[in-house]
Amino acid sequence: MKSIFACVALSGSLMCSAVVAASERTEEYISTLTELGFPAPESSELVHIPPTLEDLEQSGLHPELKRVIRRGYDLFTNTQQLRGENVFNDMNCSSCHLGDGRMPFSAPVWAAAVTLPGYRGKNDHVNNLEERIAGCFTYSMNGKPPAYGSDSMLALTAYHRWLARGVGMYPEKPIYGRGFPAPERPEELSYAGGKQLFNDNCAICHGEDGKGLRVDGQTVFPAPWGDGSNNWGAGMVRVVTAAGFIKNNMPLGQPLSLTDQQAWDIAYYMNSQERPQDPRYTGDIKETLEKYGPTFHKHSMYGQTREVDGKVLGDHSNTGDK
Ligand code: HEC
Ligand code: HEC
Repeated sequence: MKSIFACVALSGSLMCSAVVAASERTEEYISTLTELGFPAPESSELVHIPPTLEDLEQSGLHPELKRVIRRGYDLFTNTQQLRGENVFNDMNCSSCHLGDGRMPFSAPVWAAAVTLPGYRGKNDHVNNLEERIAGCFTYSMNGKPPAYGSDSMLALTAYHRWLARGVGMYPEKPIYGRGFPAPERPEELSYAGGKQLFNDNCAICHGEDGKGLRVDGQTVFPAPWGDGSNNWGAGMVRVVTAAGFIKNNMPLGQPLSLTDQQAWDIAYYMNSQERPQDPRYTGDIKETLEKYGPTFHKHSMYGQTREVDGKVLGDHSNTGDK
């Protein structure tokens, strides 16, 4: 309704119907999200509906650019095609960035395209979009990033930028649904409780052993831990990040169905299992922790003693399938 009033005020403007259409689209988009239980955006937040591949076909972009963006989409959603070269686990980018990287509260990736180059605490310097994507290859894909300027990197960056279509660079407003916002940490986390919840709610797809499911070289259900998963240097190993991911996105198709305590307990259990070594490993876990503990591993279980069996997590030199 608001949009109609705005339009009346603008009467005579050719933009009128476009304004109504756009704002109705936004209202519909927000109500779909709020019906799922997500909070409505604050008036101070930037709401952006990333365009689809259908929008791409209808756009006036050069056919060659359309081809490259489509290639980026294809790599994002089936990153396994780079297995053995750039990817050494069972993940696709879309395994963690749901809705092909478009979904709010699932770290929608277009946000990076409008905020980079930007400072990143993880590596303590200003990163561009290529370096940010490279980081997800190194850690989340337990891989080796495609070279800057290579066809794969170009296609992926083009896809990220396409998703950000129309958003101004360096927006001053905070971005609605950015990252994996976590619920508040409960006082006590339960490993046993997390295990039970995982087996009851998650194992049907991801397996009690956390190996997920692969069929004919394709990942059907990704691996939340083990050799087929992200390594110890990936953002998802932070218990807070995993809790945010799980609360907002899992079980698949039932976002926000777990309580905050449940999401945290499962994250704690999941991130207390083994996975490939952090590529920043110096050969000594104590030394690695001294270097990366204060900035990164203070949020992970890396180097900590697992309460159930006294195992020191991450104390190995297994790099998975690399
Ligand atoms: C194991 C899960 C996982 C996988 C797989 C993964 N990512 Fe990410 N990605 C994350 C996490 C966690 C973050 C950090 C979110 C945050 O800031 O809280 C992130 C952040 C990003 C960002 C920055 C978003 C922003 O808000 O600035 C980009 C871009 C990105 N990933 C791209 C990729 C690409 C491209 C791939 C595939 C090559 C990929 N990711 C694979 C977990 C993953
Ligand atoms: C109906 C099947 C299904 C159920 C149940 C389910 N997941 Fe997932 N999960 C998926 C799929 C599929 C993906 C990858 C997203 C995609 O490809 O669209 C995924 C992705 C993930 C990821 C990111 C990638 C990885 O493997 O690390 C995590 C973590 C995860 N799920 C945890 C959970 C947890 C915890 C639960 C239980 C609370 C759960 N899932 C329940 C199907 C499921």
